[in-house]
This record gives sequence, structure tokens and C-alpha cells, in this order.
Amino acid sequence: MSKRMITVIPGDGIGPSIIDAAIKILDKAGCDFEYEFTDAGLTALEKYGELLPQRTLDMIEKNKITLKGPLTTPVGEGFTSINVTLRKKFCLYANIRPVVSFKGTQARYDNIDIITVRENTEGMYSGLGQTLSADGSTAEATSIITRKGAEQITVFAYELARKENRKKVTIVHKANIMKSTSGLFLKVAREVSLRYPDITTDEMIVDATCMKLVMNPEIFDVIVTTNLFGDILSDLCAGLVGGLGMAPGANIGKDAAIFEAVHGSAPDIAGKNLANPTSVILASIQMLEYLGMADKAEKIRAAVTAVIAEGDRTTRDLGGTHGTTDFTQAVIDRL
Ligand SMILES: NC(=O)c1ccc[n+]([C@@H]2O[C@H](COP(=O)([O-])OP(=O)(O)OC[C@H]3O[C@@H](n4cnc5c(N)ncnc54)[C@H](O)[C@@H]3O)[C@@H](O)[C@H]2O)c1
Repeated sequence: MSKRMITVIPGDGIGPSIIDAAIKILDKAGCDFEYEFTDAGLTALEKYGELLPQRTLDMIEKNKITLKGPLTTPVGEGFTSINVTLRKKFCLYANIRPVVSFKGTQARYDNIDIITVRENTEGMYSGLGQTLSADGSTAEATSIITRKGAEQITVFAYELARKENRKKVTIVHKANIMKSTSGLFLKVAREVSLRYPDITTDEMIVDATCMKLVMNPEIFDVIVTTNLFGDILSDLCAGLVGGLGMAPGANIGKDAAIFEAVHGSAPDIAGKNLANPTSVILASIQMLEYLGMADKAEKIRAAVTAVIAEGDRTTRDLGGTHGTTDFTQAVIDRL
């Protein structure tokens, strides 16, 4: 039988080093994948003169499963995010961002187990209609929420809650102020919630959610929300479990899926062997679960959990003194 082919985009900044770590670990765990490497973002621009080459799009479509490093997006100007483009192009409507407490981190809490389910293609974050007037005095952007988009993401969240035996879904919105867009999202999410009487539904305004996540994170189980709120809340959640080095994300559509870390290319630590590869390792665990390889996923999770708990070969963000390569080797040794 031919091996499962995975598209790999190493990405920018710390991307290549953490992706390399994840692949070594997948191989050591006996996953028996083949990898097809390609580029996107700044690395692709340097190599091929374009940010999103056709070969990359073709590969993502052909192999269906992609493991991706972070891609740099210029702040306030320049090209549109390649991440956003990929999510829209492949209709990756669900962004699943779980955070779990790991023993051995310096996180404030040790009882976190929250999944943020973020709508991934619509709303303010999708970057629609961004303009700046010629005199630079007025800026505009368009936020569109559709019934279809709101329905498919809330159904996804409730189905996930059921599958994972979760008890509660919190619908996060700002429908008191953004009555049209957030209002439609909330209305549709409420309708969907009625189909899942076995799961408790809670509703919360996004600003209050931030405060409660910091003060009483144990009240959250599954969060479902729109694109921009999900982006912000999932970084907040990462902070509850030890930082961005601990937060994976899966972008799921009907015909393709891209697995990546929640964090960005971390230019401040790029090339210094300081990055914690755990986020992308956890993303590869999500990939294994998606592919029905729960035994391998569990094996890798156990190794990562043990290395972090022991604490003597961890990276700086976790309170350790070791680099990306040492940490990776520690996980490989465990495996
Ligand atoms: N999915 C993606 O590709 C993605 C996501 C977020 C940001 N970005 C892009 O990344 C670039 C940098 O963004 P930023 O600096 O605001 O956010 P960032 O997530 O790259 O970094 C924020 C902070 O967290 C730290 N950090 C991040 N990942 C870490 C890891 N694995 N181990 C240890 N520390 C880690 C960084 O050193 C930095 O101090 C921007 O161009 C942004 O657009 C890409």
C-alpha cells in the first residue's frame, strides 16, 4: 500500500525549525508518511517570485492534508495574509484551537481544557473591502456574516462537543453592539443549539469572555465564535497554558485540512534555536487524530507530556534552558 502523502510548508521565521522537529517526531513514532515540501509566503517570494505559487495550491489540493509553519504578514501595509487566502481558497471554515494544561509549565492554571472553535473564512478578519481614502484620513473594511457560515461552524462545534464528550458550548459574540453581523451569528447559533439538548449552551459577550477566561477559565469547555474574536481569544487561551509555544490549530474544510501552530513566525527568536516546537507537534497530533491514527497521536502526546513534566530539557518559554533541537531530541528519546 502506498504511503500517505502530506504536504509540508515550513513557512517563515521559526517555521522551518519547528516543522523539522514535528516531522522527526512523526517519523520516530512510526507514522510512515511521505512528505512533499513546498513554500508559501516570504520564503516562496524569495524562491519563486510569488507569495502563493500554483505548485503549492496544487499540492494542498492533491494531498488534502498539510502541515504548515507560520507565515509572516506585514503589519498595516503590504500584501494580504497568505493564511487568510489559503483558508478562504480551500473553504477551511473551521479553526479548532484546543488548549490543555501541561504539568511542568509555568502557567497560572493547571486545570485548563478548552477548545476554541473559530469561524475561519468570514467576518471582519477576512479582510474584505479594506480601503484607505486617497488623503489617508478615512479607512474602511467590510464584515460579512452569512447564515450558512454561522450554521456550519456552530454545527461543527456542537458535533465536536458530542464526539469528545464535552458538556458545554459557549457562544461568544458582540451582538449588543454589532447587531447585524454578530446578531445574525448569535441568532443562528441559538437555533443550532436547540438541536443539541444534551449539551449545555451558554452565551457570552466577547469582552466579558476575556475577563472570565482570565479569572475563571474552568467554566469554559467549548467556545464557538466568529473569526476575529476567535483569533484573539485563542491567543488569550494560549496564555492560560504557558504561552504561544503550547497552542495548536487545525483549519478544517470539507476537502482539505491545514494543521499549524496558533502562533506566528516569531521574528524576535527566529534562527536562535529558542522556539518551543510543542504547538506544531500538538498540531501534528491533531492531524493524526483527523486521519484516524489515535494510537500514534497518544504515543506522541505521552512523550511530549513526559518531557515537559520532567522539565530538564525544555525551552526558555517553559522555564528551561534548552533549545528547539534539544527539546525535540528529548521527545524522540522518550518515543
Ligand atoms: N498562522 C500564522 O502563520 C500566523 C499566526 C500569527 C501571526 N503570524 C504572523 O507572524 C508574524 C509575527 O507575529 P507576532 O510577533 O505578532 O506573533 P508571534 O506569534 O510570532 O510571536 C508573539 C510572541 O510569542 C513568542 N512565540 C511565538 N511562538 C513561539 C514559540 N513556538 N516558542 C517560543 N516563543 C514563541 C514570540 O517570540 C513573540 O515574543 C506576523 O507577520 C504575523 O502576521 C502568522
